[in-house]
Amino acid sequence: MSKIFCTKEQFAESISNYASNKCFEDIEINPSDPYHRPIRRNDLAKLDCTKDVQIADVFGNKNLILNKLLLTIYEQDLLFLDQNYTNPHSREAFKSFYDPYFVANGKALRPFIEKLVFGFLDNEIEIIGKWNKDKLNQYLQSVITEQESTKSELCTSIENLDKPELAGKMLLIQMAPDFLSEASAMARTLPGAYGEEQSEIMKVFIDEYGYGVHHAKHSTLFESTLESIGMNKNLHHYYDSYLPTSLMLVNYFHYVCGNKHNWFKYLGALYYTEASIPHFNKQISAVLRKILPGIDTKYFDEHVHIDQHHRRMVLDKIIGKSIDRYGESIIDDILHGFESFRLLQTLADKDLIEQMHFSSQLKSTPQYKPVGEKKYFTESLNELTSAHIHSESELFTVIAGELDFNANGVQSIVLGAGEKIIIPKGRLHGTRIRSNSAKYCVESICISEG
Ligand SMILES: [Fe+2]
Ligand SMILES: [Fe+2]
Ligand SMILES: [Fe+2]
Repeated sequence: MSKIFCTKEQFAESISNYASNKCFEDIEINPSDPYHRPIRRNDLAKLDCTKDVQIADVFGNKNLILNKLLLTIYEQDLLFLDQNYTNPHSREAFKSFYDPYFVANGKALRPFIEKLVFGFLDNEIEIIGKWNKDKLNQYLQSVITEQESTKSELCTSIENLDKPELAGKMLLIQMAPDFLSEASAMARTLPGAYGEEQSEIMKVFIDEYGYGVHHAKHSTLFESTLESIGMNKNLHHYYDSYLPTSLMLVNYFHYVCGNKHNWFKYLGALYYTEASIPHFNKQISAVLRKILPGIDTKYFDEHVHIDQHHRRMVLDKIIGKSIDRYGESIIDDILHGFESFRLLQTLADKDLIEQMHFSSQLKSTPQYKPVGEKKYFTESLNELTSAHIHSESELFTVIAGELDFNANGVQSIVLGAGEKIIIPKGRLHGTRIRSNSAKYCVESICISEG
């Protein structure tokens, strides 16, 4: 394999160069255009890029930062353009975001960040035994049939939380980075020449893009869902609240679609997503209608219908035809992609359920034991600490002044002097100072169970 970076120092320098672009400036919680992507640059210096993220670290800060960088690298291949272009600031941000040298810097980093973020999948997924087309068909369909016989844990959690309305909106925020530019990764698979399967993929893609009718485009349907309950439909408005595992779902598809040697993995992942969506969307559509009256659920309802066709097309006309044409040796990759995306979806659901629990009970104080030194910080009016994650649980206490504490992107809570919050390890959060100055204390703790 050719090496672009000879040493880890060169790689670290290239990441830091890339992250020095002003699109990553930490100035707004809700960016006014899709080109601004706040990141805590101080965390970059502490990033150990010599080791892949492991499955135990996927809820962590390293995974969050790497996935944010990776998403930007991928999205520099997509065109984001809207009415804001008439605003000179936005036009300047647009030009800077798509600057060819900045883009080239990201392209050089891409395979290395992909390995750091997705390398662990090779350790987690092992394909055992000899597979043939029939066995594969049976297995793939049995996984989906099994899923369809159980209720989604995510849907049940949303309904049972103290604040289901908040949880429902949190779910939509985590879906936004994928659904507001839906099937953009798939667009990477269309050029080239690869026989009948190419035309089948094109049919699925045309459906995703509303067969050329803008209001039927799936991303437009999702915009309507957000608007119907007063949420912002602009791309990356909720950027600061994305969980690392939600970003992994979008990034995985760019990863397998963008690297042609992953082609058969892509087919497996595509089948999993198309096949698992109808059952999930049917449930979530009903839950959302119940907890958020007036919501437009057409986005979800449309997928209940169309993905039943898509999953059949993918299985018979793309996967099946590919095996006939290229032999059973491609099955290992198909299974790898299927299992990878299934695992990533499971991790994303778990991450979101934990964030929902944290977010709906911010002011509860479970039993804890201090295990570290107290650290004090003083910050001034409007100072922003964008979303980040700690590897240890923390007790966060406001000593003086007032601040907004953000943990979900829907509504922040105000904390004043004397108020405290327990932040479990792995939970995303950020703050903004509301008073002229504020002082707070953080202390590592161990949370007692029960
Ligand atoms: Fe879709
Ligand atoms: Fe689909
Ligand atoms: Fe923090």
